[in-house]
Amino acid sequence: MTTLIDLAGHLAAEQTADEAVKDVVAVIAAACVQISRVVASGAISGSLGAAGQINVQDEEQKKLDIITNDILREALKACPAVAGLASEELEAIETAGRKGGFLVTFDPLDGSSNIDVNVSVGTIFSILPAPDDREPNEQDFLLPGRQQVAAGYVVYGPQTMLVLTLSRGVFGFTLSADGTWLMTHDAVAISPETAEFAINMSNQRHWAEPVRRYIEGCLQGKDGPRGKNFNMRWVASMVADVHRILMRGGIFLYPWDAREPDKPGKLRLLYEANPMALIVERAGGKATDGQTAILDLQPTKLHQRVPVVLGSANEVDRVSAA
Ligand code: AHG
Ligand code: MN
Ligand code: MN
Ligand code: MN
Repeated sequence: MTTLIDLAGHLAAEQTADEAVKDVVAVIAAACVQISRVVASGAISGSLGAAGQINVQDEEQKKLDIITNDILREALKACPAVAGLASEELEAIETAGRKGGFLVTFDPLDGSSNIDVNVSVGTIFSILPAPDDREPNEQDFLLPGRQQVAAGYVVYGPQTMLVLTLSRGVFGFTLSADGTWLMTHDAVAISPETAEFAINMSNQRHWAEPVRRYIEGCLQGKDGPRGKNFNMRWVASMVADVHRILMRGGIFLYPWDAREPDKPGKLRLLYEANPMALIVERAGGKATDGQTAILDLQPTKLHQRVPVVLGSANEVDRVSAA
């Protein structure tokens, strides 16, 4: 077996406009090693269950939402290259009294509803440029996703894996027993075609007509308009569903639905849709809100939601045309 390059070796070899972004990635990766240990300890460390608080998303927080948020928040605030941060679990941004460097948005624990039943969860992060002449304000975080300088996620599953994109390509690192991230996937690419869709079918009666038409076509199988049978998966952890799509293709949909018509979907633009869209596009896939590329959307609010359709490029196009 060839010697596997580690994350530090990969970062050293990567060409980036600003070397300091590598320090931020290294800090996040180290924090996620710590998170993997507390996630893996589960009931032993008493970290399962509800925290008894409601977050800015109007969700009941899990204890691990808070524990993981604190681990990332402290690590980032101690990093000289980080000027500010925003989190799913924090109502407002937090600044570090610095100018220049980078802004980090993150979802410290994605798929929290799975943590108490031992199903894969993850951490998602997005790194943006900070203003170089002053401390950042909330407005500075509202950049279109195409301006991200890096994005990644960690999936805490049978393997703990970090998937990362800096200036080009998508690379996968597997956490080894000694706490080192070793590159195990050096050319992650999404096949343009698929026969596997991911959607929460229990919301079917609430979807808009085009999504209902598209899914109905898949369900009709080889005797229907698609001429082939489809499989379905829904982990209810975006990180796990996106990771599967990066590994074997597929299409993921969390569309607008009528349950909360004033909210355009469940997933958050800044720390779920944008980082995942950058990774998916860099792997040759597509990511839209059903019509427009996610990365081209102009954010207007820190915790704004967006419908998400992402994965195999040709399939994403079929949803837009449905
Ligand atoms: P989070 O746990 O960070 O709040 O995100 C959960 C999201 C996403 O991970 C997943 O795709 C989706 O919620 C699942 O939603 P449903 O439970 O409605 O299926
Ligand atoms: Mn949540
Ligand atoms: Mn999430
Ligand atoms: Mn979360």
